[in-house]
Amino acid sequence: MNETLKTIDDRKSLRGYDSREISSEHKKWILHSAFRAPTAGNMMLYSIIEVADQKMKDKLVKTCDNQPFIAKAPLVLLFLSDMQRWYDLFEYSSVPDLCKERSIEYVTPKESDLLLASCDALIAAQNAVIAAESLGIGSCYIGDIMENIEIHREMFNLPKWVFPIALLCFGYPRRDDRDDREKTPRFPEHLVYFKNKYIRTDGKEFESTLMAQTRDKEAIFKKAKNIGQFIYLRKTGADFTTEMRRSVKVAITDWIE
Ligand SMILES: Cc1cc2nc3c(=O)[nH]c(=O)nc-3n(C[C@H](O)[C@H](O)[C@H](O)COP(=O)(O)O)c2cc1C
Repeated sequence: MNETLKTIDDRKSLRGYDSREISSEHKKWILHSAFRAPTAGNMMLYSIIEVADQKMKDKLVKTCDNQPFIAKAPLVLLFLSDMQRWYDLFEYSSVPDLCKERSIEYVTPKESDLLLASCDALIAAQNAVIAAESLGIGSCYIGDIMENIEIHREMFNLPKWVFPIALLCFGYPRRDDRDDREKTPRFPEHLVYFKNKYIRTDGKEFESTLMAQTRDKEAIFKKAKNIGQFIYLRKTGADFTTEMRRSVKVAITDWIE
């Protein structure tokens, strides 16, 4: 295994951080690595906001489903799917007039643009994660940034064609807090990697895979009849997911309007 593969293999999400600031040299490399990520058509359909203000971090704890470690992260980066920059250029460049002259439709951003911009933003984010890891800096994604769109728009001054797709917390590990944690398991390869055609996963097999990976089996049967029911209640059907669905629907509706 080379160093890059080892960095990828060893990575675990880090949710408790040393109070040390991220050095400016390390921050520079994290951002540089994000910017070097592949980007659709080389259009860089994303932006990054560093959340430096402690009051804003404190607020994110609440608006991102009560996750206190966000407030303690020395570096918090918000990754935005961003079509606004291009559409501001198109307006500035009189593209609507051009389209009129040539009798072609002037198309504003649609669902596909949101997905493409989100690909760009997330690929940049993951480059930042791996760069940080290689520098001994841990990280954790916060998907809950997709909740509470109205509050996040206001907080970060986000226009209509900018969507907050991921928040990343970074920090050096506390010296006593890292190596003894086991890596979280992943599904066996045959469930997620196919040749030529998609293969649906048999429910029974998936259930036994999940059960084999679960340490606290008692917790499941306290809350539900099986692990599928348990995970539905904890994740897919939970309040935070309901809020995410509402919030993302508002954002997409506004985006494609
Ligand atoms: C899109 C995305 C959203 C996530 N959101 C959260 C989150 O809101 N809070 C959190 O503690 N971890 C979050 N995580 C981290 C995952 O829980 C973590 O990656 C997963 O449990 C696997 O653990 P590992 O990263 O240590 O291998 C998120 C990860 C991803 C990729």
